[in-house]
Amino acid sequence: MEHILLAEDNADILSIMAEMLLSEGYRVTATLNGAEALDAFRVETPDLIVSDIMMPRLDGFGLLEAVRAHPQGLGVPFLFLSARTESAVTSRARSLGADDYIFKPFAPDDLLVAVKAKLERRRTLQLFDTRSAHLQTVSMLANVIEARESYTRGHVERVQSYALELARALGWDQEALAVCEYGALLHDIGKVRVPRAILNKRGPLLYREWALLRRHPETGARMLENIAHLQGARPYIFSHHERWDGTGYPARLAGKDIPREGRLLAVVDAYDSMTSDRPYRRALPAAAALHEIGRLRAAQFDPEVAEVFIFLRQRELNGRH
Ligand SMILES: [Fe+2]
Repeated sequence: MEHILLAEDNADILSIMAEMLLSEGYRVTATLNGAEALDAFRVETPDLIVSDIMMPRLDGFGLLEAVRAHPQGLGVPFLFLSARTESAVTSRARSLGADDYIFKPFAPDDLLVAVKAKLERRRTLQLFDTRSAHLQTVSMLANVIEARESYTRGHVERVQSYALELARALGWDQEALAVCEYGALLHDIGKVRVPRAILNKRGPLLYREWALLRRHPETGARMLENIAHLQGARPYIFSHHERWDGTGYPARLAGKDIPREGRLLAVVDAYDSMTSDRPYRRALPAAAALHEIGRLRAAQFDPEVAEVFIFLRQRELNGRH
């Protein structure tokens, strides 16, 4: 339930506003001046502040300034309630970071509409903040993987952008796309446990080296076991080396038993590997890599996913000429 802090020195107006907001299902703290409101703010950060300007002890400007000076108060929307329309007042309030005004006398709907709009905006911003902070952490992890593998520069970012484009073309919903955004970045996270000498070896791998490398999907999935907000990435990590014909690893799943995240990533991961230089071979041209994916469709890859991917990349290649 969202919490609204009210500051208004006219007790009648205050109780009317409080009633209106309570009946809409909000939690309300009603205070009679800026000083009281500031005390309440310090006890609990509200989701929105609606404040009169002229009030005893501490006026609306003083309250806004004190709230914005507090780290917790920087993002709290602040709505002024005012009978005064002078531009000087308005611009002062703007420069202090007020978000909007409601002019007295106001109709009940004016207040409710403004409150709803401000809270909505706050939710969007919070979501955006969490998401971008989250993606920054994930990118940092992905960079750690890349740094250890000298020849994969840019690999995870390219895989991410191919994966998102492909998922979108396959009609995945917004939530699945948001998970894809970080799942694709993290798919090789388990490689942090594979010795560098193996990751960067120029010659063919010995059996025991290869066995160690093959553990990275399981290692990665286990690393994320207790990180609640990254659970969505686990199918990308665990299943990206499974093969449609059941000869992949680690679980030797076949066909649609392989989670769709793994089937999607297998195609884009293979394509990016083929089109990148490796210590032991040069990159394949894009057209040749697509031909190879077409050839391996139904053996290594989900045929439908492979076909859509080939279509997308070919369209891109043709567009360039
Ligand atoms: Fe991998």
